[in-house]
Amino acid sequence: MSTILVTGANRGIGLEFIKQYLERDDKVIATYREKESSKELINLSQNKSNLKILKLDVASDESMKDFCKHLGDEPIDIFINNAGVYGPRDSNFGKVDEENWLPVLRINAVAPLLLTQLLIENLRRGKSKKLLYVTSKMGSIDDNKGGGSYVYRSSKTALNSVVKSISVDLLSEAMAVAVLHPGWVRTDMGGPNGLIDTETSVSGMVQVIEDLTLETSGAFFNYDGNVIPW
Ligand SMILES: NC(=O)c1ccc[n+]([C@@H]2O[C@H](COP(=O)([O-])OP(=O)(O)OC[C@H]3O[C@@H](n4cnc5c(N)ncnc54)[C@H](OP(=O)(O)O)[C@@H]3O)[C@@H](O)[C@H]2O)c1
Repeated sequence: MSTILVTGANRGIGLEFIKQYLERDDKVIATYREKESSKELINLSQNKSNLKILKLDVASDESMKDFCKHLGDEPIDIFINNAGVYGPRDSNFGKVDEENWLPVLRINAVAPLLLTQLLIENLRRGKSKKLLYVTSKMGSIDDNKGGGSYVYRSSKTALNSVVKSISVDLLSEAMAVAVLHPGWVRTDMGGPNGLIDTETSVSGMVQVIEDLTLETSGAFFNYDGNVIPW
C-alpha cells in the first residue's frame, strides 16, 4: 500500500486520480479549496477510510503552510501536483496583460516548487519517492506550431523547467521525478471536445507512474507513456 497525495482533487483529472488510487486500496490524500465545489470528493471521504481530504489553495503561502501543518509528518510515496489553471482564454498577441498572466504563473509554475520544498521531509519519509507534475503539451516549445496562448503555454514551459531542475537536484536522494501530459481531456478545463475521458487519461498516467524509475527520471511523458520533446 502506498500513500498518494494529489492536489486539485475535487474535480476533473485530480478527482479521477483519487478514484483510481482508492480502487487499488492505497492511502489517498486529496486537496480541495472550497466545500461547495467539492461535494463528490467530500462524499467519497465519508465512505472511504483510506481517503483523507485537506484544504489547499496553492495561490496562497499561508494556505500551503497550513496544509503542511495538517499533514504533519505523514510519509508521502507518490506526490501528484495536478492543480492548475488555464487563465484567460484569449491570451493571444496584443491581448496579454501582466495582471492576468502572473497569477497563472504562480499557480502553474511557482507553487509546485514552493510546495515541493515544503513537503520535502514527507517525501524523504516515503518509500517509492515519486514526484509527478501535471503539465501540458502546450508547454512544449518544440511542439508549438500554433503560437498564441501566451499565458498558459509559458506557465507550463516554466513548470517543465522547474521540474527538470527538481529531477536533477533530487536524483541523489533516489527520487524519481517527471512531468506528465494528460492528453486533451474532457474536463472543465479541456471542454467537451477533448479527445479522451478522465478514465483513459488517468489510467494511462497511473501506468506511467508505475513504470517511472530513476533511469527515466527527468522526462516529459504523454499519458500513454510516449516521451514528448521539450
Ligand atoms: N483537461 C485537459 O485537456 C488538460 C490538458 C493538459 C493539461 N491539463 C492539466 O491537468 C491538470 C488538471 O486539469 P483539469 O482538466 O482536471 O482541470 P479542471 O477540471 O479545471 O480542474 C483544475 C483543478 O485544479 C484546482 N485548482 C485551481 N487553482 C487552484 C489553486 N489555486 N489551489 C489549489 N487548487 C487549484 C481546481 O480546484 P477548484 O475546483 O477549487 O478550482 C481543480 O481541482 C491541470 O494542471 C491542467 O493544466 C489538462
